[in-house]
Amino acid sequence: MNIEQLKQAAKDVAAKTYSPYSNFPVAAAYYDENGDLFTGVNVENVSYGLTICAERNAICSAVTKGSRTIHTLVIYTPTPTPTPPCGACRQFIKEFSENARIISICDSDQVTDTTIDKLLPGSFTL
Ligand code: THU
Repeated sequence: MNIEQLKQAAKDVAAKTYSPYSNFPVAAAYYDENGDLFTGVNVENVSYGLTICAERNAICSAVTKGSRTIHTLVIYTPTPTPTPPCGACRQFIKEFSENARIISICDSDQVTDTTIDKLLPGSFTL
């Protein structure tokens, strides 16, 4: 698994974001435990609350294709600072990973590199 390729995949898919209401494009790309790559973008809606985040779209796409693990996930936003995953996406990521690596990149050299367990300590489970 090549992190630079993963970062590039996130940047490439950012062209597909549908974010006319917030003008805040978000792209996600991740490798599962098999090294297979999945991507997603945020998809907004005129009824704002129906918006789906990039991370959750990537995960739904992966699950639809038969993948149920997340090894390393990159979030890209064309912003000066990195964007962390929202709370809902943290719970969604946790569902499919023991402790996924989460890297946020942007259009400056700033990067955050952490894990889902650090972002979502004490997460809900049954
Ligand atoms: N957004 C994501 O795609 N992922 C996140 O983790 C945070 C927020 C999107 C949702 C919405 O389209 C835009 O960013 C502004 O909130």
